[in-house]
Amino acid sequence: MHRRRAALPRYHRYLNPQAQILILDAGGQYCHLIARKVRDLGVYSEVRASETPAEELGAAKGIIISGGPSSVYDPGSPTVDPAIFTRGQAVLGICYGQQLMAHVLGGGVQKGDKGEFGLATLDLEATADPLFAGLGGRQQVWMSHRDLVAGLPEGFVNVGRTDTCPVAAIAAPARRLYAVQFHPEVVHTTRGKQLLANFVFRVCQCEKDWDASHRAPLIEQEIREAAGKRNVFFFVSGGVDSTVAFALCTRALGNSRVRGVYVDTGLMREGETDFVRRMPGITVECAQEQFLAALEGVTDPERKRHIIGEEFVRVQERVIEARRLLDEQWILGQGTIYPDTIESGGTAKAALIKTHHNRVAGIQKLIEEGRIVEPLKSLYKDEVRAVGRELALPADLLDRHPFPGPGLAIRCLCSDVDAPVRDTADGCVIPVHSVGVQGDSRSYAPVLAIGQLDPARATELINRVSGVNRVIASVAGPAPLTGMQVSASSLTPARLARLRTADATVRRLSHEAGFDRRIWQFPVVLIPLGTADSPDSIVLRPIDSVDGMTAQSVVMEPALLERISKELLGQEGIAGVFYDLTHKPPATIEWE
Ligand code: XMP
Repeated sequence: MHRRRAALPRYHRYLNPQAQILILDAGGQYCHLIARKVRDLGVYSEVRASETPAEELGAAKGIIISGGPSSVYDPGSPTVDPAIFTRGQAVLGICYGQQLMAHVLGGGVQKGDKGEFGLATLDLEATADPLFAGLGGRQQVWMSHRDLVAGLPEGFVNVGRTDTCPVAAIAAPARRLYAVQFHPEVVHTTRGKQLLANFVFRVCQCEKDWDASHRAPLIEQEIREAAGKRNVFFFVSGGVDSTVAFALCTRALGNSRVRGVYVDTGLMREGETDFVRRMPGITVECAQEQFLAALEGVTDPERKRHIIGEEFVRVQERVIEARRLLDEQWILGQGTIYPDTIESGGTAKAALIKTHHNRVAGIQKLIEEGRIVEPLKSLYKDEVRAVGRELALPADLLDRHPFPGPGLAIRCLCSDVDAPVRDTADGCVIPVHSVGVQGDSRSYAPVLAIGQLDPARATELINRVSGVNRVIASVAGPAPLTGMQVSASSLTPARLARLRTADATVRRLSHEAGFDRRIWQFPVVLIPLGTADSPDSIVLRPIDSVDGMTAQSVVMEPALLERISKELLGQEGIAGVFYDLTHKPPATIEWE
């Protein structure tokens, strides 16, 4: 008799996928973004070091070489095993990957001194090639490079160009080799997704085997394997990542084997500790004084991050000691997601852009000892939200804007010295340094302030003016910055309270106006620019993003801006209100 098999739950189809597309990490954060975009197409993809020998890549149907901050002429710059180009496997080079492909195959790469960062218009020839199927014509692309391909390797044709980049898309279809100078993986390249889909399905003939919204049972299985018989102790922040990770652990192991502790560092937003107190299974550890004492007088952003990370570890040790949580029975759980590990230089070659608090030395030691479970470490924010929806976690929790672990500390900028603002033909240079990311490496530079809320002018200036990595517009306060200067200041309880109040005001007003739903995140930053009576100013930094890897500044309605500015200027200690008009890159979302 013929017996019918019970239908397997859908996720079983996706158990243990083998990477069909391998991304070679040429040193940037983009390698992971590409991997994510390929997974979004339903095809499982992983990242490998660029120098991985060709025979270890053999099982994949296609290889993508990522972008990166180096020049192919730099000593020690990332390279690839030349054999990857001669095995008949399809290869796509992106940005640095295009330059590297051209260089390794005997073409020419020209050192650029100006560079091209941001939107550009690509003219792509209509060809019969599967990679470019349906993509011919003019289109918007996103560029981030200095060097250019100047001479094609033998057998290649050039099929795309922009005004500043004469070789923007090349192909050797008979050898299944392709490369583009622009970034198809970022949303600003309007037809980038189609190009990646063409590569994955038409060129590489991949089949769908991955679904980010059906991960929970697999992740739970991984948690059970990592924990064994041990229990999991968790630091939660109230944010999406740690809450989803915590929920996965309790589902995997049961409530009795998972404990959550929330540390009130004194660097939290208004109302946050009360919000977390209402969550089940979590206790609150008060450590305000400990954190503030350790941060007293510190002005350097990297030092702040390290101190906060180390204080977290200290609190952890104290809690563990007091509750005997790290005897053989316990391991530590963390809500680390992919971008956190990338930006801390956690992958093979990513430049250290900033150190995340969950990748400091004390935590590294636990990782080496195999005493950490990080169930979300290969997922991006929107994939984490998809898992959260699968767990039926409440929407108001999943829709929360991301908030950085080090909290308000990295939005409260400090200065070692008093310093005047400097008038230039383009605007006022404010000697407050903030972090940026250009061609995938870190910058730390002053800010340019202009008098009008003019995004087009800001973009033009950021591309042209050297020595600054952000452009902000003065939207309220003395114009043009009359009588304002930067004054020496550190992280004090008074300044943190000032920032906390301003942040709460901005949050309340943008929520009432529905503006928070239009954007991805809204950092509010305190800078030590002001007058004798009011020493600080506020910078508004609303941005839109898909995953935090790239971001666009978003301008709000004038009426809302007016309400916000009025309330902020009425607040004690605030001299001016500014609006950050810089995209990421060249700026980062946070200022530190
Ligand atoms: P950036 O400033 O690098 O930020 O453009 C990208 C995203 O990461 C968040 N962020 C952090 N999140 N710990 C975190 O948990 C951190 O140290 C940290 N630094 C930045 C930032 O808020 C944005 O969403």
